Amino acid sequence: MQVTQLNGPQIISTGSATPQKSLHNEQIGEIVDTSDEWISTRTGIKSRKITDNKVGITSLAVEASNKAIEKAKIQPKDIDLIILATSSPDDLFGSASKIQYELKATKAAAFDITAACSGFVISLITAAQFIKSGTYKKILIIGADVLSKWVDWSDRRTCILFGDAAGAIIMESSNMDCILSSSIKTDGSQTDQLSLTANSTISNPALQLNHRYYNFIDMNGKEVYKFAVSKLPTAIADCIKNANLSIEKVNWLLLHQANERIINAVASKLLLPQEKVISNLSKYGNTSAASIPLALDEANQKGILKTGDIIIMAGFGAGFTWSVVLLKW
Ligand code: COA
Repeated sequence: MQVTQLNGPQIISTGSATPQKSLHNEQIGEIVDTSDEWISTRTGIKSRKITDNKVGITSLAVEASNKAIEKAKIQPKDIDLIILATSSPDDLFGSASKIQYELKATKAAAFDITAACSGFVISLITAAQFIKSGTYKKILIIGADVLSKWVDWSDRRTCILFGDAAGAIIMESSNMDCILSSSIKTDGSQTDQLSLTANSTISNPALQLNHRYYNFIDMNGKEVYKFAVSKLPTAIADCIKNANLSIEKVNWLLLHQANERIINAVASKLLLPQEKVISNLSKYGNTSAASIPLALDEANQKGILKTGDIIIMAGFGAGFTWSVVLLKW
């Protein structure tokens, strides 16, 4: 879409970061009753990257952001806003401020968005609103999660799925709007199907004072699977229709990298051939808010995304939330 003023959001660069340490399916088979064969056939995951003990999302996010900033050929002080999508911040009050400080992006406002595996697409849609309104011109959008630290490593139903990573993009105002259509959906009645809830314990019995801590990730895998394959195709088809496009015009499907079977089922419902599907989860597992920008950066680095390509990005997960953005590269 042509816009009259310089307030059309455009993605001008991407970056990503993953920890050094890999954890292969066979290694998980040494700690819980599972196998590479079971994990690979049910999920498509072969390996994932895991942060060391004291490493959290901040350092991964800073590394991914610095790469995106460098590729955009801008300075950190040029950034007006930083939006961090994460559900595993290093600080419950938010980690975006620390990232702003470490990047020396002194002019940027910064805040976190918590929406699990939909977080990155929701953040991208949010950032686009700030550009379209003329409020900001350069926005750094980050998806970063370290869910390996929040799984119960004795629970084979969940510990096989998650890995750690960060991905970042720079969005800039231009005379073209790269967002063709978008949507954000929530079904709060399904919150209990996938959760990382707080718990509390009495710390002073006399005064009945308590303090909170968090449980491990809890998931009803079958329900999450059913939700994803039923809701995503409809939401994506609606976005394509709202942009007055047909599915044949779509060049790439980039879904949240949760499970290969979910990705294939959605692509097949949409009648999208396999060669249009971007997938890298076999190497990284489900990296939550980081999965889409990580896969986007890999695709970008490989040079497979061409100017003018139509890309569907869709996040889905806890909440339940699901969000779709149709964009022109
Ligand atoms: N290794 C071996 N066996 C396992 C296992 C593992 N890691 N995890 C579960 N099992 C067992 C179960 O105990 C069950 O055994 P039983 O029949 O003796 O009771 C059997 O495998 C089937 O379990 P089930 O939960 O029905 O498996 P599934 O086919 O639904 O596959 C998931 C499980 C998690 C792979 C699948 O439900 C899924 O991918 N869901 C979506 C999860 C997701 O993407 N979450 C993140 C969204 S953002």
